[in-house]
Amino acid sequence: MVTIDRITKAYGSSSVIADLRLSIEPQQVTVMVGTTGSGKSTLLRILAGLERPTSGEIRWDSDHRGIVRPNLGIVFQEPRLMPWLNVRQNVEFGFGPAGHRRSAELADEILEQVGLESFSDYYPRQLSGGMAQRVAIARALVRKPSLLLLDEPFSALDALTRSRLQDHLMELFARHSLTMFFVTHDIEEAVALSDTIVVIKGRPGQIQHRFRIDLPRPRSRQDPAFMVWKERVLAALTNGDSP
Ligand SMILES: Nc1ncnc2c1ncn2[C@@H]1O[C@H](COP(=O)(O)OP(=O)(O)O)[C@@H](O)[C@H]1O
Ligand SMILES: [Mg+2]
Repeated sequence: MVTIDRITKAYGSSSVIADLRLSIEPQQVTVMVGTTGSGKSTLLRILAGLERPTSGEIRWDSDHRGIVRPNLGIVFQEPRLMPWLNVRQNVEFGFGPAGHRRSAELADEILEQVGLESFSDYYPRQLSGGMAQRVAIARALVRKPSLLLLDEPFSALDALTRSRLQDHLMELFARHSLTMFFVTHDIEEAVALSDTIVVIKGRPGQIQHRFRIDLPRPRSRQDPAFMVWKERVLAALTNGDSP
């Protein structure tokens, strides 16, 4: 889907990420886990085209027509909803300025999939944090993104809401055959969601470990194999000597 080839980013003399190489495979969940300040959001902004790398390149696979421009959906840590638009209008905002002929129908469909069909007239201030983030996910999904980028989308939520939204996201992942690049500092979240985990560490941030997570889905957080993976990723993040 996309190849991140030796990406480096510096702000002035401060090097933030160095020599990042990574492939994002179609219809898989690639999770990047790392501590705060390791350059995760920087990489995500570069992928989204919001920022340029200092060196290196991002290569998108072309489709059969040779078109490389990806259709991206982005979900940030804060829902970033328009306060003057209701839930439905915020979701329809995802279509962009040109709008879309089927927009009303598709917005309804996605609102139902995120469980907000009865809240379409609500305004952002009337929503809980979890509901607001579901609106943000719906807004990204109406674009039918070829790649969905998520930057710590659940980290401002309480633990119970977070794990519910993780499960919910995986239902949407299966239903829409999504390709996701998900950034988090939460190890349990990484194991719950991923096909592949990459661990980014250091300053400048570098990918120091990669894990292929072969646990079947849906995943139980109580499964001993799940806990073994958590331990492994934690060890990789903290001491750096494991495989
Ligand atoms: N626009 C910027 N100018 C200068 N430094 C920046 C800028 N954006 C991010 N940084 C620095 O880059 C480092 C990585 O930031 P970030 O990518 O947000 O990390 P993460 O998302 O992993 O927490 C931080 O130390 C941050 O201070
Ligand atoms: Mg960040």
